[in-house]
Amino acid sequence: MPQLEALIFDLDGVITNTAHFHFIAWRKIANDLGFDLSEADNEKIKGLSRMDSLIRVLEIGGMSFEEAKLVELATAKNEHYQTFIREMTPEDILPGMADFLEQGKAAGLKLAVGSSSKNAPIILEQLELDTFFDTVVDGNGVTHSKPDPEVFVKAAAQIGVNPTAAIVFEDAMSGVEAAKAGGFCCVGVGDPAHLHKANHVIPNTVGLSLDALKEQLNFQ
Ligand code: BG6
Ligand code: MG
Repeated sequence: MPQLEALIFDLDGVITNTAHFHFIAWRKIANDLGFDLSEADNEKIKGLSRMDSLIRVLEIGGMSFEEAKLVELATAKNEHYQTFIREMTPEDILPGMADFLEQGKAAGLKLAVGSSSKNAPIILEQLELDTFFDTVVDGNGVTHSKPDPEVFVKAAAQIGVNPTAAIVFEDAMSGVEAAKAGGFCCVGVGDPAHLHKANHVIPNTVGLSLDALKEQLNFQ
């Protein structure tokens, strides 16, 4: 049985419900362009970088634009999104997550964030978690976005842990694929219909228990 040494968390949709704010902001961009975006469409966008998300959103609307317009739309989406995250407080940490993070710390595990978001530093500050993690790798520090494993591989390297000794927590299909491609054990947070490639899926973060997870996933 491998020894568990680290927990690596996606941010948006795992530590806090910013995944919903991303959806609202993308839907506004779509609506302004004359089409709608469904929750099902959103599942395919979740976890992708800002520009990759925009390209997917435009594909859904059957549209494509040249680079300057893409930058303008991505900037407009981010400005709208930031109006939500500026209002966040520690109360916006998802239920059970603050307690679970403390369980990890008390057990002596390394704790890391692996997020595609360039807004991760602002969000962690709003949640008062900016000095909590052993390392944070976000959209400002990676070349290849999820489903590429780079963000998780980099986080594991920075805390000196082998992927086989870590659990990644993810709410997005692209994120589960990234974790698995990097050789990590992955817990999906959300609907098993989207997250079936994970080693284990939990519906939400309520009542998360480190001991129960270790048993479920065969870690010491
Ligand atoms: C990820 C989200 O964490 O960050 C994606 O799951 C989002 O939906 C991506 O597109 C990029 O975020 P940002 O904040 O850099 O636009
Ligand atoms: Mg996410």
